[in-house]
Amino acid sequence: MDSRPIGIFDSGLGGLTAVRALVQAAPWENFVFFGDTKNAPYGDRTAEDIRALSRRSARFLRRHGVKALLVACNTSTTNALPQLEQDNGDVPVMGPLEPSAAAAAAASRTGRIGVIATAATVRSGAYEQAVRRIRPGAAVTAVACPRLVPLIEAGRVSPEDPALLEALGEYLPPLAEAGVDTLILGCTHYPLVRTAIGRIMGPGTTLIDAGAASVGALLEALEAADALGDKKTAGTRQFYCSARRKEFAANGSAFLGWPMENVTETDAGED
Ligand code: DGL
Repeated sequence: MDSRPIGIFDSGLGGLTAVRALVQAAPWENFVFFGDTKNAPYGDRTAEDIRALSRRSARFLRRHGVKALLVACNTSTTNALPQLEQDNGDVPVMGPLEPSAAAAAAASRTGRIGVIATAATVRSGAYEQAVRRIRPGAAVTAVACPRLVPLIEAGRVSPEDPALLEALGEYLPPLAEAGVDTLILGCTHYPLVRTAIGRIMGPGTTLIDAGAASVGALLEALEAADALGDKKTAGTRQFYCSARRKEFAANGSAFLGWPMENVTETDAGED
């Protein structure tokens, strides 16, 4: 057993969908969450910027004595995971990339797999590579959806919302045309619009929630190392953000599914 907290970071709010999945699967785990709201969104940044910011977030969490790092942000994972693993070789570092690629490769009947994500994630090519490492014959179609994060953060998540449907009407048809039967939701925010995506893609398309896949893989790794927390006690939760604390707490509740408690604003100790 290992009662040290899990460290989770994201570019901002979206990673709270992974927190939600973690709390559902392992309510006993202690965790520290850092959302880099000062520098969000990462999806339009350069790979170099994303790496520097992600390494800084990881260093902040390491100062809290975490037993593992969960990189909730897909954009950080696809642009910075090797660097983060190198920096933090003494603890498990888990992101959504490999677990969701594995889940998609296993779920797809036809080998035609889609990915929707931020521009920086799509530009990295990491999802195509990860899926093809596991299933070499797979045909992967990746589509950048830059309008989705701002819409979702503005609360435009209803499956009837006209602005959301207009954006999805632009992004999803190329995936349907490519005949994908499995679609990776490769961005922290997209579980909030899963219903709308599912309706448009239809019941023949399996949707893979990248955040939930990463949480499952992390818990498996911790269990294998006998490093899960004490299942008899409720986990402690600490939330940090780097700017706009009140907004983060208010909007975060929609991502988490419960009112967010105790948010501390921090410069992450290095500014
Ligand atoms: N957290 C990011 C991701 O999962 C989305 C938001 C952003 O662009 O920073 O890719």
